[in-house]
Amino acid sequence: MTDFKKIISHAKEYGFVFPSSEIYDGLSAVYDYAQNGVALKKNIRDYWWKSMVQLHYNIVGIDASIFMHPTTWKASGHVDAFNDPLIDNKDSKKRYRADVLVEDYCGKIENKIDKEITKAAKRFGAAFNPEEFKTTNPRVLGYQEKINTILKRLGQSLEKEDLADVKALIEELEIACPESGSRNWTDVKQFNLMFGTKLGASAESAMNLYLRPETAQGIFVNFLNVQKTGRMKIPFGIAQTGKAFRNEIVARQFIFRMREFEQMEMQFFIPPGTQKEWYEEWKKTRLSWHLSLGMGEENYRFHDHEKLAHYADAAADIEFKFPFGFKELEGIHSRTDFDLSSHEEFSGKKLQYFDPERNENYVPYVVETSVGLDRMFLAVFSWALREETLEDGSTRTLLKLPAILAPTKIAVLPLVKKDGLPEVAKKLMDDLKWDHAVAYDEKDAVGRRYRRQDALGTPYCITIDHQTLEDQTVTLRDRDTMKQERVALDSISGILNEKLDIKNWLKSI
Ligand code: GAP
Repeated sequence: MTDFKKIISHAKEYGFVFPSSEIYDGLSAVYDYAQNGVALKKNIRDYWWKSMVQLHYNIVGIDASIFMHPTTWKASGHVDAFNDPLIDNKDSKKRYRADVLVEDYCGKIENKIDKEITKAAKRFGAAFNPEEFKTTNPRVLGYQEKINTILKRLGQSLEKEDLADVKALIEELEIACPESGSRNWTDVKQFNLMFGTKLGASAESAMNLYLRPETAQGIFVNFLNVQKTGRMKIPFGIAQTGKAFRNEIVARQFIFRMREFEQMEMQFFIPPGTQKEWYEEWKKTRLSWHLSLGMGEENYRFHDHEKLAHYADAAADIEFKFPFGFKELEGIHSRTDFDLSSHEEFSGKKLQYFDPERNENYVPYVVETSVGLDRMFLAVFSWALREETLEDGSTRTLLKLPAILAPTKIAVLPLVKKDGLPEVAKKLMDDLKWDHAVAYDEKDAVGRRYRRQDALGTPYCITIDHQTLEDQTVTLRDRDTMKQERVALDSISGILNEKLDIKNWLKSI
């Protein structure tokens, strides 16, 4: 995988992601999506929405506000329990998330496992079976055992709110401050992650509000409105995409962890007692959504939570192999009836469902799927970016985005800027633009234009040359294979519609 710094600079150079307010030297961990980034982000969002809402007759979407009545966050438990365990290094004065320090330590042990596997693969050649090696090699087993023991203890200590033991673990593992190298730590303390703001004209009458730290609560408070007006029958889901805000202390790794980010969440309302099956079902469905993008099964894994959030009776992450290791991409949570029951209690309003099959009223249970749109963007972008050495020894930068997610699907390129070629190219672009995002480029030699489109992730280029004027054919170039074929101008639209049909991707889920 490409070096992380290269990923960040490519994102900027090619108009995907810019640092926010850059002319004022930026704002830490806040980013702006640029002209190509916004299109890639929208395509990811649409792919999620289509698969969740359009393809499920029993899932509908909403768009709730970012501001919510402040009691929402008392009821949801976020005021009391949405905390990160933080620790300060007394020498560097830097603040860290204590659990992340321990997880990063485990990440280093995982790197050692990867090194052992790479060494063994070289030694054994084609006969090498990495799975067998991982489950039999004593050194790898030892490393894995160490990781499991550390993470288990961390999970248990956090679960019990035993922050002294989290500090003890950091000390026992001799974890040093990445900045100062010192092991002079403060105690671990909890820190609430919600951003506060005020609503109202005068200081006296202003109401204290929070910026929502998850989109889910907008769904819970609208549960009954949607159920009644949509005449929804359980099991059914409500989906939503939108911004969430968290005062992350350790916001780093580019758009992986930000203070303002976007979530794509779905709450699935089910009868009590069926949560185990639905939890397993949604784990499967969501993994299959990720795999449908073709980014390699080996780059995903499940991580079952030891420490459960205050609302969950089971939870797992779908982790992706980012350039800095396997990290959470999506969370799947069995949220019990915690949220609806709690909103009932705090609002005094019944949030129940009459189940005609059971002939009873109940507060539904909920299984949630929650994926960060920005994290999904980073997963796709970092996987796609690569340097390729070609047969002639030259190199090319390729952004191998899944075609349906690419910001621009087709670039139309007249070979030269004269002889009537731009006119034919512009006419073709006008025909194609009704179905696809199309770009036009006539600057520089065509080889350089191909390279630029490769770096932007454009899956197809169409070149108009002098032969086009004679026989009404064009060259269609495939980004990944670089193969060029001559096709009839009047067949190009049909060929591309087939290649770029989102249906073909969604059907594999
Ligand atoms: N409603 C459940 C919930 O919010 P979460 O595990 O805290 O669960 C869900 O967040 C997803 O949101 C994560 O898997 C991640 O993809 C994304 N996410 C969370 N915090 C984020 C942050 N600070 N920056 C970017 N994405 C974030």
